[in-house]
Amino acid sequence: ASGPLADPRGREVRDLRISVTDRCNFRCTYCMPRSVFDKDYQFLPRDELLSFEEIERVARVFAERGVRKLRITGGEPLLRKNVDQLIAKLARIPDVEITLTTNGVLLPRMAQRLKDAGLDRVTISLDSLDDPTFRRMNDADFPVASVLEGIDAAAAAGLGPIKINMVVKRGENDDGVVDMARHFRGSGHIVRFIEFMDVGSSNGWEMGAVVPSREIVERISAEFPLESADPNYTGEVAERWRYVDGAGEIGVISSVTQAFCSTCTRIRLSTEGKLFTCLFAQSGHDLRALLRGGASDADLDNAIARVWMSRTDRYSEIRTANTAKERKIEMSYIGG
Ligand code: GTP
Ligand code: 5AD
Ligand code: SF4
Ligand code: SF4
Repeated sequence: ASGPLADPRGREVRDLRISVTDRCNFRCTYCMPRSVFDKDYQFLPRDELLSFEEIERVARVFAERGVRKLRITGGEPLLRKNVDQLIAKLARIPDVEITLTTNGVLLPRMAQRLKDAGLDRVTISLDSLDDPTFRRMNDADFPVASVLEGIDAAAAAGLGPIKINMVVKRGENDDGVVDMARHFRGSGHIVRFIEFMDVGSSNGWEMGAVVPSREIVERISAEFPLESADPNYTGEVAERWRYVDGAGEIGVISSVTQAFCSTCTRIRLSTEGKLFTCLFAQSGHDLRALLRGGASDADLDNAIARVWMSRTDRYSEIRTANTAKERKIEMSYIGG
């Protein structure tokens, strides 16, 4: 390996998002709708998943190439057996931050073990503070309290600053935006409001269900004045807004109304070992065959370099009602 890798648009690879399972205990309507992910749905069999050793190898090669953040995702990553052992392996790689995105309900049981294994931070999804709305959206009858307990457990274990992701859908949970801001103001946790995206090919996306981030900021600011804050690093996905009264900050993620492809430094490793250079890619590049076929680290590095150097992705810049209908990979498989 020889230094950072740039794609033809000059974007360097900085974040590797690793999906460790395609399963989830939730059935969020915008991600794993029950009509598709029902009892007959075929999840990947165990031997198709990358092992922890295989994941660590790939992560090390990426770290040599300039990756500085590893994010463990799913599906629900805490459903992967002994995931703390994977974290312990990844935490030995020098100069990388280890983060994880979860729905939070297993954190009361696992937060301390994850922290001890070397996890730096968590991001927790929570779409509403209103029980009926939240149960409708997760479609698996989990109450709001089960996630709030997870947030508290993560904070107690030192996994902060905690970020809380709320996917906003007009007519479904957007009336709870200000409540969400109010609840977490002053807590030290950072709520990020995410525009509903057309990921996968089964979530029934339409522009009418997107609440533009501009509108979110206006609604919150009317009650709790906000001022814009500078990004923490170039290519940060969330745009930061700070409460004028000092009660902390929120973020908005505007993949639909203000595409951030021009600074996109992310690559995704799917559960079964395919590399995806975009959340909206239609196909991936298989690394598992190489890993299981006796490839050296130099061979892996070559393959990775080829994939990144031929990357032209900019889906969010070219999204239309028609592209939204195209076949794309499901987010629960590729990782958020
Ligand atoms: P931190 O800044 O370290 O907290 O990471 P992050 O902002 O990447 O946080 P997170 O991984 O939680 O991403 C937040 C959400 O933004 C994701 O769950 C997605 O919904 C969305 N998102 C993240 N990366 C991309 C991307 O590359 N493209 C698009 N379109 N959306 C993304
Ligand atoms: N649009 C926006 N965000 C989504 N997420 C999952 N599906 C979508 C979608 N269609 C979010 C989840 C979680 C993160 C992994 O991605 O809420 O916070
Ligand atoms: Fe599960 Fe997260 Fe998808 Fe909801 S958004 S179904 S919690 S992976
Ligand atoms: Fe990156 Fe693709 Fe998202 Fe654009 S749409 S920011 S290229 S992952």
